Amino acid sequence: MDAGGADPSVRELVARHPALRLHAQDGLLLEDVPLAAIADALGTPAWVYGAGTIRARLAHLRRTFAPTRVHYAVKANDHLAVLRLMAQGGAGADVVSEGEMRRALAAGIAPAHMVFSGTGKTRAELEAALAAGVGQINAESAGEIDMIAAAAAATGRTARVALRINPDVAAGTHDKISTGRAGDKFGIPWGDAAAVYTRAAALAGVEPVGLALHIGSQIVSAAPYRAAWERLRGLTLALRQAGLRVARLDAGGGLGITYRDEAAVAPEALAGALREILGDLEVETMIEPGRWLVAPAGVLLASVVLNKEDGAIVVIDAAMNDLARPAMYGAWHGIVPLDAVAAARPASPRMVAGPVCESSDIFARARPLPPLAANSRVAILDAGAYGAVMSSLYNARPLAPIAMVDGARWTTIRERQPLEAMWAGETIPDFLSG
Ligand code: LLP
Repeated sequence: MDAGGADPSVRELVARHPALRLHAQDGLLLEDVPLAAIADALGTPAWVYGAGTIRARLAHLRRTFAPTRVHYAVKANDHLAVLRLMAQGGAGADVVSEGEMRRALAAGIAPAHMVFSGTGKTRAELEAALAAGVGQINAESAGEIDMIAAAAAATGRTARVALRINPDVAAGTHDKISTGRAGDKFGIPWGDAAAVYTRAAALAGVEPVGLALHIGSQIVSAAPYRAAWERLRGLTLALRQAGLRVARLDAGGGLGITYRDEAAVAPEALAGALREILGDLEVETMIEPGRWLVAPAGVLLASVVLNKEDGAIVVIDAAMNDLARPAMYGAWHGIVPLDAVAAARPASPRMVAGPVCESSDIFARARPLPPLAANSRVAILDAGAYGAVMSSLYNARPLAPIAMVDGARWTTIRERQPLEAMWAGETIPDFLSG
């Protein structure tokens, strides 16, 4: 994901994030709350999410794509407070496990506005989804259609099913987050879709309602979307020609953001393409974005533990177990000192490293940053998506606390995990006693 060219400066990074401001005395603010106050209260590492930012981004996307419905991809950030914001803002949910479904229900998202996606839904999950009244199941294989039929029979429900097709389109994103090429594990090859749809229509308890696709994540250009949606259009027309009903099209998620210098396509342009390609088909349309809605609304706060080699290496107290993206995908995240005076000092190239015993536990290499003294603090930007949800307990590091700001207010929405809680479910077997 790292591109060539120069890294943006601290000043440029802040200017590019409407939710952030560097205040001369209070330092870096998220919405109207000094992040230093949250770091003082909760310690570091700590996540902070901006409710106002999430609200505004959801409203923007819904307005831009209307009448297309927005189903928030819960996997990007599944905190109950985030899901409540989605419910209040009129989003449905795209869920991929019973756990995500239960979270979305607990936060107040109506089951009718949920889509259950995923490559390996179990029979138990399918039954749970049907029993809960989930509005749509996106099926990813012919075999899954049979499992859905069996689950429908067992629960006495009718399953409204969309077939997730694999359009064989390269999304032009990182290999590990491309999902729509032939040979990727996702979806039904688009050439097989008509046969599977026909079979599904003949099964009791299964009502095929339409088609779905999702070609990848952090997609920054319109071209792959256009190619995939053209396939969706062609298939819809072919299915109708064959006398089958296609009432819904799920156009996927994947909308990219600017982490470093990516020229991410504007939602307005994508919405225009969607209207142009699918608009005359008289179908209900939906999208399932995750990252775009929440990534820029979150930061990970960290403290500098110490400097090595005259500040060429800055070791912080956040690690790959907290934010896995840099280690996992080579992802670039902006780093901004919380202190305005420190932020303004001349920058030189520094490595920012976490404390975990892995050479991939690096947040930045040769990053132009001002000197970062021990105990000073930084915010790692755009951490609201695929951040806390991907944390692990590696190196017995507990889950970090989470705060939510809303304008000038803030509160803790998850406490730091107590150390003992990490091993609370573990037992030492009797045969090891003595
Ligand atoms: N729908 C389906 C079926 C998906 O698999 C995904 C993401 C989405 C929607 C939402 O995609 P988004 O709008 O957030 O791009 N951990 C990776 C991203 C993995 C995405 C997995 N699927 C990362 O940190 O970049």
